[in-house]
Amino acid sequence: MRVLLSEQQIQERIREIATQIHTDYEGKKPILIGILKGSFVFLSDLIRELEMELEVDFMATSSYGDATTSSGVVQLTKDLDVAIEGRDVIIVEDIVDTGLTLRYLRQLLLQRFPASLAVCTLLDKSARRQVEVPVDYCGFDIEDGFVVGYGIDYAQKYRQLRFVAIIEEDFNE
Ligand code: PRP
Repeated sequence: MRVLLSEQQIQERIREIATQIHTDYEGKKPILIGILKGSFVFLSDLIRELEMELEVDFMATSSYGDATTSSGVVQLTKDLDVAIEGRDVIIVEDIVDTGLTLRYLRQLLLQRFPASLAVCTLLDKSARRQVEVPVDYCGFDIEDGFVVGYGIDYAQKYRQLRFVAIIEEDFNE
């Protein structure tokens, strides 16, 4: 396992993103939607840097296939608790990879007529994109490789790490 982003790098970048969101949503009360499970660590640190009125809700999706690649079939496993019509919505993701999850979520949420819909992700593997999706706030554009930590798992492990690491090919649990 090799550290890709240190705790300090992540926290510094989150403060920068929070400043940007604060400026862009001046006088508004956005709803931040965390996509479970991976985003919960990022979301919780992000909202504590955002000194503004906001709401939080969650959605969950699952995509079928093996553990490391998406099959392209996205299913909603948990919907929002709140209505978003006329609201400023920010989807918060830990990572955007193929873009399939985000495309599905955006299509779903746009049908509910939010006032605006933005995407904030900590990590972006933009080189692996299969479908084009807009990313408004991005923490780090990263190389391809299997990342863990800071909310992201490998077989449900390592979500609690304070940093983001890459699992090397010869990785032994
Ligand atoms: C990850 C991530 C995104 C999705 C991105 O979730 O949180 O939701 O994959 O991949 P895509 O761009 O190729 O669609 P994952 O399926 O690992 O679930 P988890 O967050 O519950 O671990």
